[in-house]
Amino acid sequence: MPNVLLLGGTTEASALARLLAAHGLPATLSYAGRTDSPRPQPVPVRIGGFGGVAGLAAYLREQRVTHLVDATHPFAATMSGHAVAAAAQAGVPLVALTRAAWTPEAGDRWQRVPDIAAAVAALAGPPRRILLALGRMHVAAFAAQPQHHYVLRFVDPPAEPPVLPRHHLVVDRGPFTPAGDQALMTAHGIDLVVCKNAGGSGAAAKLVAARALGIPVLMIDRPALPPRREVTDPQAVLDWLAHAPSATKRGV
Ligand SMILES: NC(=O)c1ccc[n+]([C@@H]2O[C@H](COP(=O)([O-])OP(=O)(O)OC[C@H]3O[C@@H](n4cnc5c(N)ncnc54)[C@H](OP(=O)(O)O)[C@@H]3O)[C@@H](O)[C@H]2O)c1
Repeated sequence: MPNVLLLGGTTEASALARLLAAHGLPATLSYAGRTDSPRPQPVPVRIGGFGGVAGLAAYLREQRVTHLVDATHPFAATMSGHAVAAAAQAGVPLVALTRAAWTPEAGDRWQRVPDIAAAVAALAGPPRRILLALGRMHVAAFAAQPQHHYVLRFVDPPAEPPVLPRHHLVVDRGPFTPAGDQALMTAHGIDLVVCKNAGGSGAAAKLVAARALGIPVLMIDRPALPPRREVTDPQAVLDWLAHAPSATKRGV
């Protein structure tokens, strides 16, 4: 029997957890612990960091993990890098369940930047009304451009108020719809959307809304990741599980 460690924190990871449970395949879903109340899952859950590459490699050995699936967010580059290194160290096969990046469509007005720092720099200039759709981790960096009014949307109410001098906070974990996001942008007079190129359908509503309203988007490109096997469909992970040599079979 496989014993899967599934690195999660995404809708794709939750979909795969359901699929693994439905097939009776033993798996543990791992969360970083960034969300106060993660959704209930049909497989056992563990929460918290592993302690770097060495900690994850030790966990893989101690828990006799046979297959590692990295279904973290495309911007969780540290975790994904650690997964590649720890899987190699522990001799555990790894696959990443990921999603294609978004590409601009007719009517989109994108400016692309390589990272958060470049996005902050690109906001130099007169005050604007910005939908900052980034999650709470990176918001503080935008205090360097305090002239703008920022609309923020978080999954949980933050413990500390955001450090941005002019902001409006929306607490909502979705799912989001183009009509709902269009209404949000109109209600707040948004004239720029700042977001990460997460890909996938769940977070794309804001792009559809921006396109419909002719609002420009400052799009932060994905971080680079080490080479690894990637699939985009949870079912493909099941096919991989059926065929990949497991750590146990190789005597690790
Ligand atoms: N970054 C985003 O935009 C974004 C968006 C939506 C959801 N998420 C989810 O939020 C979580 C954290 O993302 P991040 O960008 O902060 O990650 P990150 O910067 O790549 O990871 C930082 C550290 O957090 C721990 N960690 C991350 N994901 C983990 C997981 N699934 N299980 C256990 N430990 C984990 C690891 O600690 P140790 O080194 O101690 O092992 C890792 O080194 C991930 O589950 C990710 O899928 C991220």
